[in-house]
Amino acid sequence: MKNVGRDVCRRAARQSVWAPAGAVIMFLVVALSAPVVAGGQNDGLDVELGKALFKRLWVPAPSSTLANDGLGPLFNARSCAQCHTAAGGGRIAIDSDGRLEDRGAVVRLSQSTGEGDANYGAQLQTRAIQGHRAEASVNLDWKRSNAVLGDGSSIELRQPEIILNGLAFGPLAPETHATLMLAPSLEVSAQIARVDLDALDAADKSQNGDAKNGRLSRDAAGHVQVFGRKATEATIESAISLAFSRDLGLSTKAHLQPAGDCSTKQTACQSAIHGAAPGEAEMSEEIVAAMAAYLRSFHGPSHQDVANGDGSRLFETSGCGQCHQPELPGRDHTSVKLFSDLRLHDMGDGLAGLTEATSQSATEWRTAPLIGAGRRLRAGATLLHDGRARSVSEAILWHGGAAEAARERFKALSLADRAALEHYVLNR
Ligand code: HEC
Ligand code: HEC
Repeated sequence: MKNVGRDVCRRAARQSVWAPAGAVIMFLVVALSAPVVAGGQNDGLDVELGKALFKRLWVPAPSSTLANDGLGPLFNARSCAQCHTAAGGGRIAIDSDGRLEDRGAVVRLSQSTGEGDANYGAQLQTRAIQGHRAEASVNLDWKRSNAVLGDGSSIELRQPEIILNGLAFGPLAPETHATLMLAPSLEVSAQIARVDLDALDAADKSQNGDAKNGRLSRDAAGHVQVFGRKATEATIESAISLAFSRDLGLSTKAHLQPAGDCSTKQTACQSAIHGAAPGEAEMSEEIVAAMAAYLRSFHGPSHQDVANGDGSRLFETSGCGQCHQPELPGRDHTSVKLFSDLRLHDMGDGLAGLTEATSQSATEWRTAPLIGAGRRLRAGATLLHDGRARSVSEAILWHGGAAEAARERFKALSLADRAALEHYVLNR
């Protein structure tokens, strides 16, 4: 990636003429004057570039020049940073009218085949560039219920009810299911990127398809996929490309369709001006690589090894570690603390939601890594794929399917033991 720095800088600097974003420009001035060096030292430059691009507010393609911007026509946010905040997890923010703000959560659309909605595609874009209509706005309501525990105490649970207003392209197909999806912590993604996927692959093959421990997600060519809450992406680069396309409407080599997630029925969107020549991507491979270098540079959430014999014992005896595996093999003979096996598990109807081409079961989810869960909660984020759980206990009480036995063991614990287990999870 010899000339990446200069290349990205030149392009981004050109954009900055009509997209003044102070901090980015300041950085670019510095970066442009730095010599481009080969090998390892260039990685530092990539990280800095990736950081600037992560925060950059992208803008629509101008009508006259082909610069490599090209936000939209439909999008959910103007920058990655709007959804993925520093402390990691996305937050569900609702304004005073009950409307979901475009920060940290999106509404995904799917049919039982794993395809998106015929009119709206795989995600509802709540914003559009000038001259185009956003697909809808989203209101959230919470359906509340109570779970009664073994000692007679009860805990209030809530579950999102999605209300779509102002659907601009007609109703959703009757079979389309809408699922709220919370942006995950990218500090956790950086840890996932350190896992040795060949080792996971080999361990999986030696298990001979024992379905008891869920399944490893694979693409059509058999490559192991670990990114995404449904484990649909094999590498951090492919997850980034998908984000550019789906969340920002910016095409990449892996997602070349210039209009992002807009469907063939959305003709104005299809024929809008794009930020690249036909067949070319708005975001170069170098931009995706710089972003990946930045995300890989994140440190894992700092782990407080609080002495908690009871908590770790209860974690094991309740069967949590079966899926929330404390460590996975890392590259170069390291180990990676995640508290996840990165496999898909049937979590029961209570958590049913999205289907994907590689996981047509609505109840299957990738084991959520528990590292940093306490920090995310303290920063105002919530848990589970749609952010419904406000505490570790709530999250466990939603476990069903293959995790039902673990949930029942948790419900049978004494108040003190539940607190010890919760404390243990909060400090991973
Ligand atoms: C509108 C909100 C939003 C924006 C903007 C957004 N994301 Fe995300 N991101 C999400 C959500 C929601 C998911 C979970 C999707 C899933 O699992 O299928 C996600 C998932 C990811 C993942 C996979 C994480 C993992 O550990 O599995 C990565 C990596 C990622 N985003 C990076 C980015 C980058 C880079 C950008 C900017 C180019 C970006 N995102 C912009 C909401 C957003
Ligand atoms: C059969 C596998 C399995 C078992 C057993 C299991 N979990 Fe989970 N856990 C999952 C999956 C999959 C998710 C993600 C579900 C979702 O996002 O909707 C999850 C999510 C969570 C979360 C939410 C984390 C976050 O960041 O969103 C917590 C907390 C949690 N589990 C704790 C536990 C504890 C404690 C136990 C033991 C009592 C346990 N789990 C047992 C598979 C399992």
